[in-house]
Amino acid sequence: KILNKFCKEYVSIGEDRTSMPVQYLQFAEQIKNFEVLDDDIWIVTYPRTGTTWSQEMIWMIANNLDFEGANEPLVLRFPFLELSALFDEEKLYAALKIGRGIYNLNSVEFTANLKRRPRFIKTHLPYSLLPDQIKNGTKKPKIIYVARNPKDTCVSFCHHGSLFVGWKIDVDTFAKLFIAERSMYGSFWKHVLGFWKQRDAPNIFFIKYEDMKEDHPAVIRKVARFLGKELTDEQVGILVKHLSFESMKKNNAVNWEDYVQQLKKNNVGNKDDSFIRIGKVGTYKKELSPDTIKEFDAWTKKNITGTSLENEPIF
Ligand code: A3P
Repeated sequence: KILNKFCKEYVSIGEDRTSMPVQYLQFAEQIKNFEVLDDDIWIVTYPRTGTTWSQEMIWMIANNLDFEGANEPLVLRFPFLELSALFDEEKLYAALKIGRGIYNLNSVEFTANLKRRPRFIKTHLPYSLLPDQIKNGTKKPKIIYVARNPKDTCVSFCHHGSLFVGWKIDVDTFAKLFIAERSMYGSFWKHVLGFWKQRDAPNIFFIKYEDMKEDHPAVIRKVARFLGKELTDEQVGILVKHLSFESMKKNNAVNWEDYVQQLKKNNVGNKDDSFIRIGKVGTYKKELSPDTIKEFDAWTKKNITGTSLENEPIF
């Protein structure tokens, strides 16, 4: 019932039985066989874990703080590989009266055909659904994985679905789907653990939303080192300012505000939400019921017991 007219049905895909919209099947082979380049820079995240924030950070660092270049919309500089596989784009864009959308209905082709090098690629796919060349190690792009507390992620995801595709569901009900691993992108824990286990690989770098909130300069410096860049203290300071919540919320190249206004005008999106929403740690406490929090914590315990994630305070 929550899936609305732009995405009617979900299917389970790959060895982890990841729950994905049925449209994914049209793109599955293309994604599996996607030609990866060794100099690609990928960001892999579960939705709503701070992807956009991290994308802008990565892009700016890799492009030596190119503020002029950063005026181009982030979705074009750093495209979303499987966007077209998530809902019936043709129907959604027709409803919004915006032609064939950002990637002309095939985000995979758009991404594959990026002319600039390195290519910057965003995906929310779990490890099990990444292109074969990444999984079999024939290509080793730089991959940055971002993790966030699952309760904040879940609440944020629910708001995002209401805003972007008109989900009509309250957060506690959505949390049940999330814990049952039946919401879009399936199991949060399989997603995180898929990369946590590989965090020491030289081409993989694991960061956390909460660490960015606590000490952003430190994370910026670490990411810069991973990308082979040197930043002065002054540059780090400039970047922290550019990436602050207030600045990103106003930045039309990253905040999706034009698109959101279009959604609202056409009564698709929930009127009270925005893409860059609250940007805090622990807001789930205000939104999830005590029973849901209990269920969440038991599910987390079951999934991380016996793994070194047990020692990570954010979870
Ligand atoms: P909230 O909904 O909790 O506010 P993603 O980009 O993966 O969709 O993640 C979205 C989340 O990141 C949202 O969380 C959003 O507000 C938050 N976010 C975006 N830019 C941010 C920034 N500059 N600082 C802190 N949080 C940010």
